[in-house]
Amino acid sequence: MMLVELERVNKIYNKGKANEVWALRDADLRVGEGEMVCLRGPSGSGKSTLLAIIGCVFPPSSGRAAIARRQLARLPDRFLTIHRRQTIGFIFQRFNLLPALSVRDNITLPLLPLGVSPSECRRRAGVLLERLGIAHRENFPVRMLSGGEQQRVAIARALINDQPLVLADEPTAHLDSALSREFMAIMADLKAAGKTIIVTSHDPLVAEHPVIDRVVEVHDGRVLPAAAGPPAGDSSVTDHGCHGVSGHGVPQDGVPGDRLHSPSSVGGGG
Ligand SMILES: Nc1ncnc2c1ncn2[C@@H]1O[C@H](COP(=O)(O)OP(=O)(O)OP(=O)(O)O)[C@@H](O)[C@H]1O
Ligand SMILES: [Mg+2]
Repeated sequence: MMLVELERVNKIYNKGKANEVWALRDADLRVGEGEMVCLRGPSGSGKSTLLAIIGCVFPPSSGRAAIARRQLARLPDRFLTIHRRQTIGFIFQRFNLLPALSVRDNITLPLLPLGVSPSECRRRAGVLLERLGIAHRENFPVRMLSGGEQQRVAIARALINDQPLVLADEPTAHLDSALSREFMAIMADLKAAGKTIIVTSHDPLVAEHPVIDRVVEVHDGRVLPAAAGPPAGDSSVTDHGCHGVSGHGVPQDGVPGDRLHSPSSVGGGG
């Protein structure tokens, strides 16, 4: 199944104003379930904008964008937010963690609006922290953690609702090469467990990593045609109905796989 289907997507910031910017022009992109794709291109080419549209942060100015079979343009804001929470785990470049809060509170934050009980929050957090190898830091305030540990907290937060689609914008920009390799090893394990992953990166350690199935080149707001993905074919996009996010072959008990912090997988891409 196609998890991401963008067709002639345009994004115009500040439309009609003097500072109008065409960030995306007729961008086509298809990403299938279980794929790992790297968006690569010069600064200002539109990678983060593309990722934000895929991440349901905002709908395109025009064109068709279907994420997990829901057409974004037809979703009212409230449903866009719900769809995002159920479908997408976003890992930000600067992690966007709250330094004074504990590790556990940071990663369970996305569960608050979902009304998940405190005991279930603790359970899910425990499973993730164990698998990411930072269980011993659960009650530490995030500001006391090392860069690598903070990165794992950011990954855990992005996975806490077991979303099928994981997005990361320049995830290794503030990491040294050892931590960047470690990040890619974690992504490789997530992919093996059935997640679909899209990253933007300039970093050859990311783009040239063997776990990446496809590098999509973005230039001047355009997705280079060869990179757009398999032909549209029999689209399974629907405009209605409430599709759950389960049934993607992903286990439902938090993070799939049990070797997310396996040292043997770290640096395996070299
Ligand atoms: N919120 C915004 N308002 C106005 N213009 C914006 C906004 N966000 C991005 N832009 C502009 O849209 C274009 C694409 O920006 P975008 O951030 O998507 O590029 P990028 O490929 O991610 O760049 P980088 O590699 O530097 O992160 C740029 O010209 C940028 O200045
Ligand atoms: Mg960017």
